[in-house]
Amino acid sequence: MGAILAGCTPTPAPDASGEEIYLQLCSRCHGEDLAGGIGPALGPGSNSASQDDEFLELTITRGRGRMPAFGSNLATDQMERLIGFLRERQG
Ligand code: HEC
Repeated sequence: MGAILAGCTPTPAPDASGEEIYLQLCSRCHGEDLAGGIGPALGPGSNSASQDDEFLELTITRGRGRMPAFGSNLATDQMERLIGFLRERQG
């Protein structure tokens, strides 16, 4: 189930850590070190670092501008671990 529909957007393992999820779904556009690339930087001092968790969750769930939506790729606990990872790196 899902293997073909998942296409080029992988579905993280149910117990994947926030970092693993980030590397799998986000790093190709935001950089392995959160420094940005195709998408804006997400690390310390970035706009995202000054936004609340709801901003991050809405962006990830629905997409934003040219960023695709990931709502169907992530369970609630995976979303929490991913946001936790971003917050940890943002300092
Ligand atoms: C295909 C490239 C791509 C992927 C993959 C991607 N993003 Fe993005 N992301 C973007 C682009 C482009 C923007 C800027 C959108 C805009 O404002 O027009 C963005 C914006 C954002 C923002 C808002 C940044 C700001 O300062 O406004 C956050 C937060 C974010 N992305 C998080 C993530 C996370 C977490 C993932 C992984 C689940 C992810 N992105 C995956 C391209 C991507």
